[in-house]
Amino acid sequence: MGNTTFAEIARLRRSVRKFEDRPVTDEELAAIIEAARLAPSSNNTQPWRFVAIRDSEKIEAVARAGAALLPINKGWLSKAPCIIICCAEPSKVFHGIVNPMLSIDLATIDVAIAVEHIVLAAAEIGLGTCWIGWFDEKKIRKVVDLPAKWKVIALLAVGWPERPLEERVPNRKLLSEIAFDGGHDRPLGQSKNRE
Ligand SMILES: Cc1cc2nc3c(=O)[nH]c(=O)nc-3n(C[C@H](O)[C@H](O)[C@H](O)COP(=O)(O)O)c2cc1C
Repeated sequence: MGNTTFAEIARLRRSVRKFEDRPVTDEELAAIIEAARLAPSSNNTQPWRFVAIRDSEKIEAVARAGAALLPINKGWLSKAPCIIICCAEPSKVFHGIVNPMLSIDLATIDVAIAVEHIVLAAAEIGLGTCWIGWFDEKKIRKVVDLPAKWKVIALLAVGWPERPLEERVPNRKLLSEIAFDGGHDRPLGQSKNRE
């Protein structure tokens, strides 16, 4: 898929919840997490940390933690060949000073960007992924030993899709509903071009 364009990858990507019984190799994991390493971050703090779980007993236990708040997560998640635990280690110097001044947590944003880099890099090579935002962090910590200063931001299921990824037209809002030109009431593309 060397010549796939970004637009094609964005259309290929979908949340995959059914996987082939095929492991994700060290090389494949390294290749997709490399895309996270290159992501932008606030003040270049790179607060992301990733722990890949491939052991079937641990996967089962992580899937239970993933289903604690959203039971439908359990069945399919326990069959994923790999779950990446995506964490933030906020920088004391930068996030410690800046976050209290803001209404949003920049380290969480940094990790979310990096996770989506993984998702898109995975789609480029045909690997399926699914973000998991519903999980019980305390239960995850009982399965996987994580430093106290790491905060779990998301889980990412990764594996070879049962049905290969193919381009699709996803169910999405129109551009005019989400993008505005010069003010919130002027949908982009519907105002007259400026002279
Ligand atoms: C932050 C975040 C959290 C999500 N949490 C879950 C989840 O807990 N379980 C799940 O099955 N899907 C989860 N999803 C996947 C969304 O349901 C999915 O992205 C959305 O329905 C659009 O479908 P698509 O990804 O196939 O385009 C999550 C997605 C994001 C971005």
